[in-house]
Amino acid sequence: MAPNSSRMTLSQADAQAAASACSAATGELLDDGRPRPNVVGVGAGVKWRNGEPTGEPAVVVLVTHKVAKAQLAKAEVVPAKVQNMQTDVLAVDWGQANKAEDLAEALRRSEYDAVAVVMNETSTGVRNPIEQYAEILADYPDTLFLVDVVSSYMGEKILVDEWGIDVCLTSTQKAFALPPGMALGAVSPAVLERARQVENRGYYFDVLEIDRHHQKNNTPATPPIALMYAADRQLDDILSEGLDNRFARHERMQQMTHEWVRRAGFELYSEDGYHSRTVSNVRNTRGIDVVALNNFLKDRGMMISNGYGKLKGQAFRIAHMGDTQPAHLEELFAAMDDFLAQAG
Ligand SMILES: Cc1ncc(COP(=O)(O)O)c(C=O)c1O
Repeated sequence: MAPNSSRMTLSQADAQAAASACSAATGELLDDGRPRPNVVGVGAGVKWRNGEPTGEPAVVVLVTHKVAKAQLAKAEVVPAKVQNMQTDVLAVDWGQANKAEDLAEALRRSEYDAVAVVMNETSTGVRNPIEQYAEILADYPDTLFLVDVVSSYMGEKILVDEWGIDVCLTSTQKAFALPPGMALGAVSPAVLERARQVENRGYYFDVLEIDRHHQKNNTPATPPIALMYAADRQLDDILSEGLDNRFARHERMQQMTHEWVRRAGFELYSEDGYHSRTVSNVRNTRGIDVVALNNFLKDRGMMISNGYGKLKGQAFRIAHMGDTQPAHLEELFAAMDDFLAQAG
């Protein structure tokens, strides 16, 4: 039986109380040196009991996997209350994609203003199936579709209008291959309309203010002009390569990386069928010293990334995006093979 949808939504007062407790919980549960390595996020939401929503506000604590209290040290246990607000623990496994069926089920259960997703998780190497989300969301015209495309943008095709994306946000420092400092985005007319209904929108991220200036080919505040010149040049280079060629190059580099991972006896951390086009997260199944590997590579003018957060040492990431060419990867893999041969 579907859960009672009226118990999935909070009153305004409850939502505010949960949000305020959530801010406190972020400091308490997610600050550096925290004793709960399993906790990966916190949010404000509804408390569930026995598989059913209760309609009561809660601080929802996201963990990579649920662990029985008896197996945890006292300091590792998620407290039952934060700032007097009850907590609820929700497992979200790293490396697993958010399945379209789960989205469809959530939308059947309750009404949502918006669905916010990350297309390509730079931290885990997961590429979420946003084309499938788009198909599902086509039946929910009042639910906005907000997509972080930060590390996909310019590495694979993103059909903003066809997929009905309402907010598509990215930045310059990933597959666009420029320094950080500029956010690029597109918003749909539905977002502008929704924004008009919000009284206190703030200033910095007010899409109406940004749009008003945009109509005059301007920005609300001083933009990073040096980066805009760099972007102009980069776009010339991208167009001379040709978008289709660029995307094909990224696909080829993904395949080359997967082949090396298999050949070298490692495995991908991300779930099969959901591997990122632009970055591969490699499970350190051979137990190599990732810091030593990077020092070895640095001597040859190259660098990879250690695993993100709790994956440090347990995984490492190889970026295959932007201006990187297949020949660069060949050089990298030859150096990594040398390191492995030397490490034994
Ligand atoms: C998927 C994704 N989203 C968002 C961000 C944040 O981007 P910024 O640091 O430009 O705010 C990053 C940065 O690494 C990212 O990889």
